[in-house]
Amino acid sequence: MVAERVQALALGGLNKLPAQFIRPAHERPENTVAVDGVTVPVISLSQPHDVVVKEVAEACQEWGFFLITDHGISPSLIQRLKEVGQEFFELPQEEKEAYANDAACGKFEGYGTKMTKNLEEKVEWIDYYFHVMAPASKVNYDVWPKNPPAYRGVTEEYSKEILRITENLLQLLSEGLGLAGKVLKSCLGDEELELEMKINMYPPCPQPELALGVEPHTDMSALTILVPNDVPGLQVWKDDNWVAVNLLENALFVHVGDQIEVLSNGKYKGVLHRSLVNKECTRMSWAVFIAPPPEANIGPLSELVNDQNQAKYSTKTYAEYRHRKFNKLPQ
Ligand code: OGA
Ligand code: NI
Repeated sequence: MVAERVQALALGGLNKLPAQFIRPAHERPENTVAVDGVTVPVISLSQPHDVVVKEVAEACQEWGFFLITDHGISPSLIQRLKEVGQEFFELPQEEKEAYANDAACGKFEGYGTKMTKNLEEKVEWIDYYFHVMAPASKVNYDVWPKNPPAYRGVTEEYSKEILRITENLLQLLSEGLGLAGKVLKSCLGDEELELEMKINMYPPCPQPELALGVEPHTDMSALTILVPNDVPGLQVWKDDNWVAVNLLENALFVHVGDQIEVLSNGKYKGVLHRSLVNKECTRMSWAVFIAPPPEANIGPLSELVNDQNQAKYSTKTYAEYRHRKFNKLPQ
């Protein structure tokens, strides 16, 4: 089945949003406006180590989300990452289709658009590109864009930088739980830790007040590190309100995902988030999902569980967790 791409639909010049994109009233951005005057935590990694541990731990407990600055990734690398991703989506439709994924056949990597399984189900206003970036043994370059030619080099460079920052963050999060710095990385598979790139592409939308780019969800990863282009749209759920995440040049957006919530036995919160779309502008974002290998067994850390603090989550492999999440089965 040939998927209908949102980008192609938008280019056709719609003035009304097709029915499958119209969210039910209680989900619509026009009825669920973000609260005023609340801003997400911003943490500079250049502060003294104990200050960074404390701020990161607080943000993970209260928000499950924060921005980091002074992370050491050069602005020019972030700029090049955005350029190569944008150039891919500007290719002729036919050229992009050569990379089409096929989730029904278990081929998750490549160019994709979510398709409805039934008429009531609503879809998101988004196309994407998804592929594994690390570890090397799991990378299949055949499913990476070959055009623009710089895509591979830039993405490999970014992957190394994200791995460095991930190791730093996992150490900070471990220490924030009162544990040795290596604990979380070790539970997440050490050198088998997986990094997955998802480029999100949200074309201009004729009626953004009725649509969502991505619906409310938590990421099933351990952490997600995201950079957006210059169009805002991400919102995080905090104290019964949506909070809009303002743009901050060169900051990285860090999401706590489900696996860290489970490992910390709920001390750190996986953040519920969604994204809105824009009438005039194309929004893009580059999300790196940081996840354990499928065979890793993930449950509350034994160091955090005792008679007073019982395990709040069951222990299972990441493959099993993913299966249940995809099929909306209880964990
Ligand atoms: C995601 C996601 C939000 C965004 O890809 O999981 O939540 O800002 N994206 O694009
Ligand atoms: Ni997400």
